[in-house]
Amino acid sequence: MKIQNSVVFVTGANRGLGLSFTQQLIAHGASKVYAGVRNPTATEIPGVVQIKIDVTDPASVAAAAEQCGDTTLLINNAGTANLVTSTLDPNLVEKARQLFETNYYGVILTTQAFAPILAKNGGGAIINVLSDATWFSIPILSPYSATKSAVWSFTNALRINLRDNHTQVLGLHVGYLDTDLSKGVTLPKSDPSRIAALTLEALENGQEEIMADAQSQTVKKSLSGDHPYYLNPTA
Ligand SMILES: NC(=O)c1ccc[n+]([C@@H]2O[C@H](COP(=O)([O-])OP(=O)(O)OC[C@H]3O[C@@H](n4cnc5c(N)ncnc54)[C@H](OP(=O)(O)O)[C@@H]3O)[C@@H](O)[C@H]2O)c1
Repeated sequence: MKIQNSVVFVTGANRGLGLSFTQQLIAHGASKVYAGVRNPTATEIPGVVQIKIDVTDPASVAAAAEQCGDTTLLINNAGTANLVTSTLDPNLVEKARQLFETNYYGVILTTQAFAPILAKNGGGAIINVLSDATWFSIPILSPYSATKSAVWSFTNALRINLRDNHTQVLGLHVGYLDTDLSKGVTLPKSDPSRIAALTLEALENGQEEIMADAQSQTVKKSLSGDHPYYLNPTA
């Protein structure tokens, strides 16, 4: 799919990777970007229209889709994370439920609302923001990893379903990004603008998956080897 003249809906567009996607989309020639945000504010970016959306609220998602019937590309970017003390943390179930509402059910709700719009507009594309943590789980981040594994699974089934609609489905896998979500992490992080630009290039090249940094490439490659990364993750 080409970005030039596309109409894009980005969830979680007010900061972090979502804001980088919005800026890169305008730079790559998108004709309009619907910036999906929970709390609309005044925006000065030409071509960007803020739309209120909370991806955990079906009525909010439906109202957003209703206003954006010309969308040709959906970017399911909104996400959240939390920490547990270990896999035996008594709060793990509650913390996992909180993350699943946004990172898994939120992606499903938003996709189901927008897929018919994309089909009506010729097919278009969906980008789902996943993670290298799709394929490994460290104890303190185990609820987050579970959500990304789950949404990877959904993405793979969705891709098959939407082929008949000519909708391209691209999964973005990436390690740590320099955003609020990982502000406590001292390990190397990628620039979200660079990752957004690489992802849009991959979409334009017709790809269905992108490993956008060295870490996600290493993790993915190891899966079929004798020493898969998930047995001894270092991050
Ligand atoms: N940061 C990393 O290291 C990293 C690595 C790999 C993948 N990712 C993924 O990249 C995506 C973007 O994360 P980020 O790093 O840019 O994080 P971020 O800076 O914390 O931004 C998260 C965005 O998601 C929005 N959001 C959260 N819950 C929402 C909800 N229920 N409805 C609508 N919007 C909601 C936030 O809105 P508010 O401003 O209203 O809170 C914010 O705009 C996520 O899917 C994340 O899992 C991040």
